[in-house]
Amino acid sequence: MSNQSMQAIRVHEYGGPDVLKAETVERPQPGADEALVRIVYTAVIPLDFKIRNGWLQKVFPVTMPYIPGFYASGVIEEVGPDVTAFTPGDRVFGMIRGAYAEYGVAKAQELTKMPENLTFEDAATIKAGAETAWKALFTEGELQAGQTVLLHAAAGGVGQFAVQLAKWKGATVIATASTANLDFVKSLGADQVIDYTTTRFEDVSKEVDLVVDSVGGETEARSWSVLKKGGILVSLTQNPSQENAQKHGVTAKFNTQLPTREDLQRLTELIADGTVQAEIDSIFPLSQADQALAKSEARHGRGRILLKAN
Ligand SMILES: NC(=O)c1ccc[n+]([C@@H]2O[C@H](COP(=O)([O-])OP(=O)(O)OC[C@H]3O[C@@H](n4cnc5c(N)ncnc54)[C@H](OP(=O)(O)O)[C@@H]3O)[C@@H](O)[C@H]2O)c1
Repeated sequence: MSNQSMQAIRVHEYGGPDVLKAETVERPQPGADEALVRIVYTAVIPLDFKIRNGWLQKVFPVTMPYIPGFYASGVIEEVGPDVTAFTPGDRVFGMIRGAYAEYGVAKAQELTKMPENLTFEDAATIKAGAETAWKALFTEGELQAGQTVLLHAAAGGVGQFAVQLAKWKGATVIATASTANLDFVKSLGADQVIDYTTTRFEDVSKEVDLVVDSVGGETEARSWSVLKKGGILVSLTQNPSQENAQKHGVTAKFNTQLPTREDLQRLTELIADGTVQAEIDSIFPLSQADQALAKSEARHGRGRILLKAN
């Protein structure tokens, strides 16, 4: 199986969309505890353009040239000698570094078998959005039935799942979106949708138990007053201000915890059985990764952008 080639997107220097080059490269080989996956869909996430732009050189150092991409769905092509959980032909999703490619290798423990009723499209959105929403709401945010949560960027790749999962838990959901996405966010089940282009969210929401902030900056600064004493703010974008948290008598967390394997299994079932639905913003062929990332960087998507690799 050695020396076979594949199409991949590679980056040779930091920069804008035009540093993404479609190239023919050697297929990676799985190590002893790894699997080679023929990738079907790869999720396009904001981290991809942040790394490509060179904004995260300290936290996510890369060796040039590198293949972008973190999360994908696909089919096991080959397994290393220590892998017993998977065999060729298994449908899987998970963290596959270098997933902007036709094939990628992953540690077997980073992969999850897809239930039969889960599609490859939906599977590619799980680690890239649904899992983040779960950990922000439940692992970090400690959200309980009957509580109220304010969700920023509710139409995005993470937000769409946060709205549905919070409702599934039995919470009241207040969500922010721009005018074009109000109906979409309402359709996800939000109790109140605030058009952030016309209304200041802090004027119309008060005493919430939890804020999940995937915007940061000024949005974080204006979110403290919305929380009740003892409430929690979970930021997806930055280490939130501990000083402001103290001033308002609330807890502030950066979303870094991982949900457990059981959480991921439960979440996967909810998506497979349609209780939670994954909105796909758009699907681009691998060769148009530059356009997909430009769309992601414009920051007004509805759901998740995917690349079709095979
Ligand atoms: N810490 C972690 O574990 C973690 C994990 C995943 C993601 N993240 C981060 O979380 C952020 C969101 O990720 P994502 O994948 O959901 O991004 P995304 O899919 O690109 O989200 C874009 C959404 O943001 C909304 N938006 C833009 N400006 C807004 C504003 N001022 N107020 C409210 N909504 C606004 C847009 O809605 P409108 O078009 O309606 O404006 C759009 O739907 C990114 O910064 C990402 O890097 C962190």
